[in-house]
Amino acid sequence: MEAITNGLILLMLSIGHAELWIMVINRTHAQPIHEAWLKRFRHVAELLIVLFPIVLFLSVGLSTPGVLVGGDWSQLPFWWKPVLLVSALGFMGLLCSGFRHLFYKPPRQQTEHQSELIHMRQRLNQDLIGEGPYHYLAGLPFNEIFSVEFTRKTFVLDRLPAEWEGLTILHLSDLHFSGTLKREYFVELCRVAQETEPDLIIFAGDLLDEMKCLDWLDDTLGIFKAPLGQYFILGNHDWNQQSDQIRQSLIDRGWTDIAAQTLRLEHVGHAMQIAGTEVPWMGTHPEILRSEMSETVSDFLLLVSHTPDNFHWATREGYDLMLSGHTHGGQVRFPLIGPVFAPSRHGTRYASGTFARGSTLLHVSRGVSGIHPLRWFCRPEISLLTLRTTNTEDR
Ligand SMILES: [Fe+2]
Repeated sequence: MEAITNGLILLMLSIGHAELWIMVINRTHAQPIHEAWLKRFRHVAELLIVLFPIVLFLSVGLSTPGVLVGGDWSQLPFWWKPVLLVSALGFMGLLCSGFRHLFYKPPRQQTEHQSELIHMRQRLNQDLIGEGPYHYLAGLPFNEIFSVEFTRKTFVLDRLPAEWEGLTILHLSDLHFSGTLKREYFVELCRVAQETEPDLIIFAGDLLDEMKCLDWLDDTLGIFKAPLGQYFILGNHDWNQQSDQIRQSLIDRGWTDIAAQTLRLEHVGHAMQIAGTEVPWMGTHPEILRSEMSETVSDFLLLVSHTPDNFHWATREGYDLMLSGHTHGGQVRFPLIGPVFAPSRHGTRYASGTFARGSTLLHVSRGVSGIHPLRWFCRPEISLLTLRTTNTEDR
């Protein structure tokens, strides 16, 4: 019995050790480090994650002190103690993030959430796996990469002008064109999204991972049209490619670049400032156009940031709404624990969903794809956000 208990303790310590490395991986992937270096670091970390339990079970479990074969923990060599203490803390950290995931509730500003599943394989009746990188992952059992969730969420925002009641924003993010998912997948998805006829369209970055897919824009993002316009920023995966060419291609197809800048848009007697940030990968944070605001009525402030890591900065600046992507919802979610991998300084805290802080509401999309075409319990997402000035239940 004691051997089983000790075996479970060693297992928990191994999981805790893995979690520590994943925490480091998440945070390094939030930094402006090129993909090649991140990949090397990730491979070293993955090797250590695999080797640690082997060494732990052979050494502490079977050798000195041999807690699996009658040995006593008091005989544990001195140098193991800090290692196991830190691993135990890692396990506690995993439990904390699991609890946060289990008890997540959207903030009061999100009053409605409906979703519709779009099964792309059945809809198009064809194989949608192409020849791009990691294509072998796309065919794994239970992979949800082809089951897109079209979410419709309603946000009640205090500072939204009454005349804008019901304004809709299509929030798209993380398309990751690479050839792994065929062009037809994205063509159909964009067609379905455009049919909702949103007032405003936002693309929050990570367009592609292979430059050869740039001409896919013609029948994907190139088809979008909205009365208040289509606005974009780029993401870290675009930064790893030829970002200037990607940016120009989007501009050529009618999209407005808002990276590191703020545009002021008049709509039904009120003004909205739409700003974008690609920090920490490119450019600088935008500045709010305070001199253009009247003394009595301030503009509605919308920020598009590829990473949710800029949320606390946006809160300090006083943005009303922030739209992000980048973290893909974690892509793989474990039962009870939830997401584990999320390239963020905050780990999995803002992996996806709606969050409120100060007067700022953040919506993080799970995005459409990823360089790794694998999603378990974490469907791709496109969102239609409806903004309201008062709670619909009160009317
Ligand atoms: Fe991405």
